[in-house]
Amino acid sequence: MSWERTRSFFPVTESVVYLNHAGVAPVSTRAAEALERYLAEATRHGADDYVARYEREIERVRGRCARLIGASPDEVAFVQNTTEGLGIVASGLDWRRGDRVVTCDLEYPSNVLPWKSLAPRGVETLVLRGVEGRLPLDSVAEALRSPATRLLALSSVEFGSGARNDLARLGELCREHGVLLCVDAIQSVGCLDLDVSSLAIDFLAADGHKWMLSVEGCGVFYCARRLLEQVTPRVVGWSNVASRGDYDRYDLTLSETATRFEAGSPNTGGIFALGGAVDLLLELGVPAIEERVLDLSEQLVEGLARRGARVLGPRGPGEASPIVSFVLGDEAPEDTVVRLRERGFLTACRRGGVRASPHFYNTPAELDALLETL
Ligand SMILES: Cc1ncc(COP(=O)(O)O)c(C=O)c1O
Repeated sequence: MSWERTRSFFPVTESVVYLNHAGVAPVSTRAAEALERYLAEATRHGADDYVARYEREIERVRGRCARLIGASPDEVAFVQNTTEGLGIVASGLDWRRGDRVVTCDLEYPSNVLPWKSLAPRGVETLVLRGVEGRLPLDSVAEALRSPATRLLALSSVEFGSGARNDLARLGELCREHGVLLCVDAIQSVGCLDLDVSSLAIDFLAADGHKWMLSVEGCGVFYCARRLLEQVTPRVVGWSNVASRGDYDRYDLTLSETATRFEAGSPNTGGIFALGGAVDLLLELGVPAIEERVLDLSEQLVEGLARRGARVLGPRGPGEASPIVSFVLGDEAPEDTVVRLRERGFLTACRRGGVRASPHFYNTPAELDALLETL
């Protein structure tokens, strides 16, 4: 399918140039149709034939999400959002006094606050300093050398600067030092290729509402199989126990798979929508999407440089992502965002820059138009 044809899945293209996929993305029609399918079933049939109508689809979507990140379905749980996924790890590990979590000041609050909240349990959070939008590898290496360090919590792509972290190298470092690696992947799942099975990633969380092009409030959490038993769910009920479906027993034995983290009724509509969205991504192929979004963002970076704008994030080999952050002369980024919005271009202001984040269905012509407008 040509990139031009993918625009038909995004009616938003009829009214604006949407360049805020790092914020909240428009929902693809594939996700919307899947959600409508759920609503049609639920309004006409309620819970009659629940397994065939809903559970089968929930498990199919789990398989598709697992495929998207290179995991096995039994390592994937549906969560309400990225924050919940990271919170499962923070609240579920058996922390000891003196343990240390390492993160950095380029992270979104959702990947710093859960760790800081462990302070009353004697866990220290070391927030490393980013330099020019990226986290220097040598500062991570040094922090991991301390025997107190138990977990490294980083994003696959930093939400403000757009720096793509070298997860392969970070994973190696973590393995070398026996440190767990927890990845906030909401800024890359759906646009950049990632395979947890070939990387030393222990935990990963990503909601569907950004690069996956689905609805808010339904995402995925990955826990490596060998660690399932080491993360204790803090919320337990009928659904995440081994005796699920037996309403006459009160047996606390947890489910053996990542479903142990799914407490209570699922967000079935959200999961249907996520399924429609992820089907589209897998049909297009994430490696092809990655090439497309990196080409588009490079076009933007080159055009901005020609116009004398200052690009804030690193753009070296392996570091670039579809998040492009910039400042235009002495214009305040907030003002640039408003000016662009008035002319039909949706961007955002983050960490002192205008953040433009194109996805595959955006076109080179749209970016030229943005540059012209600037
Ligand atoms: C890097 C990063 N992590 C986490 C979040 C929050 O995600 P959620 O609302 O799914 O918890 C965001 C939202 O912008 C983000 O950019």
